[in-house]
Amino acid sequence: VKIVVIGAGRYVTGRGTTELGTILPALIEATRSEPIESITICGRKPDGASEIATAAHAINSKLGTSVTVSYALVDEVLASGSADAAIVSIPDHLHFDIGKRVLERGWHCLMVKPLTPTLGEARELVAFAAARQLHAVVDFHKRYDEQNLVVKRLLGERALGRLAYATVMFSQRAEVPAIAFREWSAQTNIFQYLGVHYADLLYFMAGLQPIRAMAVGTKGVLASRGIDTYDSVLATVTWRDPTDGAELASQLAIGWIDAESSTAASEQKYTLVGERGRVECEQKDRGLTVITGEGVRTINPYFSQFLATQDGMRFRGYGFESVRQFIADVRAIREGRESAGSLGGMRPTFADALPATAIAEAVTKSLAQGGSWQDVDQAR
Ligand SMILES: NC(=O)c1ccc[n+]([C@@H]2O[C@H](COP(=O)([O-])OP(=O)(O)OC[C@H]3O[C@@H](n4cnc5c(N)ncnc54)[C@H](O)[C@@H]3O)[C@@H](O)[C@H]2O)c1
Repeated sequence: VKIVVIGAGRYVTGRGTTELGTILPALIEATRSEPIESITICGRKPDGASEIATAAHAINSKLGTSVTVSYALVDEVLASGSADAAIVSIPDHLHFDIGKRVLERGWHCLMVKPLTPTLGEARELVAFAAARQLHAVVDFHKRYDEQNLVVKRLLGERALGRLAYATVMFSQRAEVPAIAFREWSAQTNIFQYLGVHYADLLYFMAGLQPIRAMAVGTKGVLASRGIDTYDSVLATVTWRDPTDGAELASQLAIGWIDAESSTAASEQKYTLVGERGRVECEQKDRGLTVITGEGVRTINPYFSQFLATQDGMRFRGYGFESVRQFIADVRAIREGRESAGSLGGMRPTFADALPATAIAEAVTKSLAQGGSWQDVDQAR
């Protein structure tokens, strides 16, 4: 399988951080089990090759691998490159355009979230991928987190009875919009960039259909640093349970102005309350606190980590699993064991990302209209 990665930023190689990102370590790790013929990272800078070589060297050294990673320019690769699959990790507002060009090349696609800012764009990509029989999925990696899979099982067993309401709190440090994504943070909003994860997760875990959304936002911290975007978005989304028609409400408080001294990149937790019970899910503090000269850190060992296993250093976690599963699926399709159609319903396909996309679009519209209720377009 020949892989191109469109984007060479923080999520791909950890650019601008002391860490090594998720996508490139995941691909290098995946070479142990999947027949990956080539990995090409594509960026916009003509002189980007040395940065990628440095990142690849650091990852190979850590993992004890010697995988060759090439660098190329995005436009050249999209015009004339040869590949079987693309992983797209670029700013939100470019997902539609680049996603379409990837599919036009006939490449299977793993798109980082959000699929697109609007439902119209997302539907066009769904149709595009279907017409070309391409496997097109969104990197909704929380669908691979075992905590969430236990909750999904419990909800499937109706262990909580009829669900009544849900709350989500999810936030990141101000450094993310103010420094890391400074170039593009004003072109998204924090719900679209981050909240969409839990919009998808509620849909995925509970099988709910979104009905309406309303949202208010707060501004000030980022505006004072020259970035015209919301510091936080507080959204209410109502849902229908298709099994019995019952309606429930969820509140999502999503922000990106956490202090630099915050002990983790993401604060995240959710609560689900039903007529017979509740789930409290702490997604940040998984019980591992490390104190060093650099300060106190709460480490989530299950997302995206180098682990010192009995077989040597390995890259693991639900962030890895999302990438590995994509490569394994592309391989299965190429070997005729699966088809893009047969995987629908099992994976976060573009079609299955429509409810979360519709919610994010409704939230964005509500913010623009003073917090008014918006119908969530019935996405499926
Ligand atoms: N950082 C994370 O932890 C994380 C996690 C999951 C998903 N994401 C998503 O991944 C995407 C990118 O995030 P990131 O952290 O890598 O961002 P980043 O800002 O660090 O990197 C963005 C990359 O996109 C490239 N790019 C910008 N404009 C482009 C253009 N016109 N054509 C082609 N390439 C262009 C940049 O050169 C850069 O390589 C976003 O949609 C984000 O929501 C990020």
